[in-house]
Amino acid sequence: MKNIVILISGRGSNMEAVVRAAQSEGWPAKVAAVISNRPDAAGLAFAQARGIPTVVVPSKQFASRAEFDAALQQEIDCFAPDLVVLAGFMRILTGSFVEHYAGRMLNIHPSLLPAFPGLATHRQAIEAGVPEHGATVHFVTAELDHGPVVAQARVDVLPDDTEVTLAARVLVEEHKLYPYAVRLVIEDRLSIEHGVVRVLDTRLADTISH
Ligand code: GRF
Repeated sequence: MKNIVILISGRGSNMEAVVRAAQSEGWPAKVAAVISNRPDAAGLAFAQARGIPTVVVPSKQFASRAEFDAALQQEIDCFAPDLVVLAGFMRILTGSFVEHYAGRMLNIHPSLLPAFPGLATHRQAIEAGVPEHGATVHFVTAELDHGPVVAQARVDVLPDDTEVTLAARVLVEEHKLYPYAVRLVIEDRLSIEHGVVRVLDTRLADTISH
């Protein structure tokens, strides 16, 4: 049984989607812990209700990014993670933290990377007038919102979309995309060559819409 540790900062709906899929689809993995950098993260209650250990490492109480990341790493490693899943974890990570989890840390970003890294992606997409927007799951590397892409989900941008309506439509896709991508990693169905991810076995490909 592999161990997944999920990091959140807020609502935690992507964390919920991964937890539900791991349990209902009988993955050879369990969510060993949910860790937040904010004590008020709403998602902690869902994890606790499911009997998943939760830990808070309050980022505000650390003098430097390096000290926070070191404390976080220590907490994560208590759960012997095979995979660390960033799910709305609103922190910029230090190089040594990223290096420690190289090849075993995923992030979900609400845009079709490499378009629109950073914040306010839905607004960026509307202002750029692109016909399509979406979400990307990628391995985490030192550069923010970069790293080998595991999977993407697309939605149309509609003429009357606002940031709110577009974000809601993307989020529905995120909740299918992230469990799909995490499962590919957990089941060792990916290879990474020269920064490009290949799916070795496409049996799961029809479980999400692209
Ligand atoms: C999601 O849109 C995710 O892509 C982004 O932050 C949001 C987190 O939402 N990184 P939630 O906490 O998973 O509900």
